[in-house]
Amino acid sequence: MTSHDITLERLDGPNRTIEVADDETVLEAAQRAGVRLPYDCRKGTCITCVGRLLALEDGVSESDASGAEQPRDTDAFTYRRPPAALTDRERTDGYVLLCIASPRTDCRIEVGPRVRAEVGDSPWS
Ligand code: FES
Repeated sequence: MTSHDITLERLDGPNRTIEVADDETVLEAAQRAGVRLPYDCRKGTCITCVGRLLALEDGVSESDASGAEQPRDTDAFTYRRPPAALTDRERTDGYVLLCIASPRTDCRIEVGPRVRAEVGDSPWS
């Protein structure tokens, strides 16, 4: 079984790197590691667990003044079920529903209330 190192970054710290098997979700791995992440539905419909993909293992980073390409959730994760709470635009912007997302590569993800505040309310919750 393959696993990937996922670094969960918080604006106010501390950052934590957890090992996530490719058949488990980031939320499941975080709970196994004793890292608290917010969640509610665990079905991809409420947005409570949202994080934002910052960079992939290969160094692709968030879009900035240098014009670096921003990673998409489809570059880094497979979903157990459709992420209904996210729009295509939000997925393009790197937002990820950590309750149903399983990693395909090592990456860094911003988590915490600031990320949740950036995303609108789910139409399904
Ligand atoms: S906990 Fe509801 S979308 Fe992840």
